[in-house]
Amino acid sequence: MPKNHIFPETHFHETLDFPKDFLWGAATSAHQVEGGNDKNDWWAWEKKVQPVDKQSGQAVEEYQRYEEDFDLAKNLGHNTHRLSVEWSRIEPEEGKFNQTEIDHYKKVLKALKDRQMTVMLTLWHFTIPLWLSNKGGWENGKSVDCFNRFVQTVVPEFKDYVDFWIVLNEPNVYEGLAYWQGKWPPQKRSLWSFVKVTKNLASAYKKSYAIIHRLVPTAKVGIANHVFSFSPEVYHSLVDNLSVWFYDILVNHSFYLLTGIARHDFLGVNYYIHQRLGKRKRGLMVELLDPTFAMEDVSDLGWEIYPEGIFKVLSDLSCYNKPLYITENGIASTNDDRRTRFFINYLKEVYHAVAAKIDVRGYIYWSLIDNFEWAEGFSPRFGLIEVDYATQKRTVRTSALVYQDIIKNNGIRHKLLKLLGHTLNVKQELAAIRR
Ligand code: GCO
Repeated sequence: MPKNHIFPETHFHETLDFPKDFLWGAATSAHQVEGGNDKNDWWAWEKKVQPVDKQSGQAVEEYQRYEEDFDLAKNLGHNTHRLSVEWSRIEPEEGKFNQTEIDHYKKVLKALKDRQMTVMLTLWHFTIPLWLSNKGGWENGKSVDCFNRFVQTVVPEFKDYVDFWIVLNEPNVYEGLAYWQGKWPPQKRSLWSFVKVTKNLASAYKKSYAIIHRLVPTAKVGIANHVFSFSPEVYHSLVDNLSVWFYDILVNHSFYLLTGIARHDFLGVNYYIHQRLGKRKRGLMVELLDPTFAMEDVSDLGWEIYPEGIFKVLSDLSCYNKPLYITENGIASTNDDRRTRFFINYLKEVYHAVAAKIDVRGYIYWSLIDNFEWAEGFSPRFGLIEVDYATQKRTVRTSALVYQDIIKNNGIRHKLLKLLGHTLNVKQELAAIRR
């Protein structure tokens, strides 16, 4: 067999191996899957402005069905699960903690440990209790103490079951969509509000980091940040390249600059979006170009399919010398063959990052199961498990079996590359490959 001249220790036509003890799994968040989260700001906003089919309602009833879904994840070979707890259930009134709900989450976390799963727990995934949103939410400086009191209360309760504490999910997306673009509740478009929220989320994080380490000295604490890859539309344009530099710092690095990288034990990377930057109009302003302008392949949400972007962001973040975990990466598509190709193409790039000695230690797909995609409602289908919303029936998608094969082999077998063919019947081919 010919030797690979780049990595002489490996051969062509062999498995693209991942490091030993690599974490493989999938993610969810409480409001998107649980159902009946009627004590938070999103629920109130959905009722007020969204049509019925874009309200979270019963979601996928994960609050009741978590064991069934964890069994499916376990059978699919996952060794890790990422999930969040819902602050408004645990503290439905200011300063009053509901022990029944805390015990519920203990059961949920224990159910994961009973299945030998590594647990990544997100403490805040976008929703806040109504009582806090009535006081101005994260714009109010007191939100920092409120959040820290919540952290102080729940960490001792959950600590026996948690391996990674993800204090905040995507503060950058939240600040941008809720306070700058006015798309998410409370739908503000104010630079001043944006600045206040950014500052409060950063100081809430800094204090939580100290609290968690005081309570659990060996804890691994970090955030899951939404990271974009950027490219200049015109490679020799100084303006396009300067914009790439500026947006990269603003979107991908600013939270670490604000909070200090020493306060991050690992970096959680949520990667979905590649953004091309270019100048279409006269003047100085650079635009975020719509990927469809160049007939790029996009997901059902219009996000460009750009596998090499995940390599680029991992390489960009490796400058901090911290362990990197891909805490979200996924595709919204009703065509499951696209998800199969997505897995192989994106994971090949993660493999290249590993081969380039970047310290990537895990891959968590978004999402384990179809769910409530915020302002978009239920139509985007991200799940490894398909849900029939009329009956709540779960069906494992074929792409989940391809992912299972990758997990089982802790790598991408060369034979799987065949599944990149567009006219293949993935299920049939996978069965043949397995023999
Ligand atoms: C986010 C979240 C998830 C989303 C996922 C797909 O990025 O908004 O962490 O809640 O559902 O990213 O958009």
